[in-house]
Amino acid sequence: MNVVATPRLAADFAGIRAQFPLLARTVHGGKPLVYLDNANTSQKPLGVIEAVDRFYRERNANVARAVHALSEEATNLYEGARSALARFINAGSPQELVLTSGTTMATNMVAYSYLLPRLQPGDVVLTTTMEHHANIVPWQLVCQRTGAHVVAAPIRSNGELDVEGFIALLDPRVKLACVTHVSNVLGTINPVAELASACRSRGIPLLVDGSQAVPHLPVDVRAIGCDFYAFTGHKMCGPTGTGGLWARREILQSMVPFFGGGEMIREVRIEDSTFADPPARFEAGTPNIAGFVGLAEAVRFLESVGMAHIAEREHGLLQYATARLHEVPGLRIIGEAPRKAAVISFLVEGAHAHDLATLLDLEGIAVRSGHHCAHPLMRHFGVPATCRASFAFYNTEQEADLLVAALLKARALLA
Ligand code: ALA
Repeated sequence: MNVVATPRLAADFAGIRAQFPLLARTVHGGKPLVYLDNANTSQKPLGVIEAVDRFYRERNANVARAVHALSEEATNLYEGARSALARFINAGSPQELVLTSGTTMATNMVAYSYLLPRLQPGDVVLTTTMEHHANIVPWQLVCQRTGAHVVAAPIRSNGELDVEGFIALLDPRVKLACVTHVSNVLGTINPVAELASACRSRGIPLLVDGSQAVPHLPVDVRAIGCDFYAFTGHKMCGPTGTGGLWARREILQSMVPFFGGGEMIREVRIEDSTFADPPARFEAGTPNIAGFVGLAEAVRFLESVGMAHIAEREHGLLQYATARLHEVPGLRIIGEAPRKAAVISFLVEGAHAHDLATLLDLEGIAVRSGHHCAHPLMRHFGVPATCRASFAFYNTEQEADLLVAALLKARALLA
């Protein structure tokens, strides 16, 4: 399989890959699937699939609402998932982690529960030019209601954040600063601890979008020193509709509810209500219990492989694939920051990104093409779309070779 991996992954790469049943399937009349759309969503190992199945077969009940045995078991599993996730990102306590449907829900929660009550006309939310729309649009929505506005820190032509430019924009009007830990388009790994330190010294809270970091790097929210950290479960081998918002406890305590409903209250009268402590305050309604049971299993799986091993393995894949892609005539990589995750956006001269992706798909190669929910970034690079190959630890160098071979074929067809 031509796998040069870290000791742990190398020792049992085939066994680890075999845990992902979907990777064994074929498409388009027998072409082996080469799945390189991991930044969009990851594949799921058997343990996760079976945990969700087992929950519905053996444990299904609602959480925190009934005293019967099943409900207690379901509640323990759901709270166990919170604890596993909190440990995974090194939160100070599981109570600092609100379970959400993903990053989008987490950023919207910060927008409405934290930011909206604090914004005044003339205030600023600082984001960056490389953000996913989930780290731009929620801020616009609350700014439009209050007379505040969103400003974006610049990036450099190689796809690095202009850190000095970001810091220069941290003036007293900034009520929240936001940055992605890893860009979903460029792969750039941002220096979030440095940015957090600059924000902290100015008394400005920092939100980090960890969607593309938690599945690929060891993440320690307390070492980063940010105030909010959002992430999503389906990119880290877990089910869709899961994720989390970590925030420092005193910040969560200061936030008003965004959704109202069951299980987030202390007492309800017809005129008004009082609210539960965090995190329950922000978890109205029946949550995605089975999804979080699966996500807890995903955490156990990732921990068993080891996040440091995963990061090292994916770095090797990035270097290999980047070098091979440079062999394709007319191919331009967008995003060549020195610190990168295994996300490679590219364009081939004379070919539209969607046409390329369609031809790659016919060869069994799944990549994403389009604007990747990052219009301002596309505008910055002056392109409407890119093709993006995004790798996970279960990918191989051979799959990068197949990508390059398919690109050479597509290029010949489109020329
Ligand atoms: N799903 C989004 C992507 O593909 C975040 O990058």
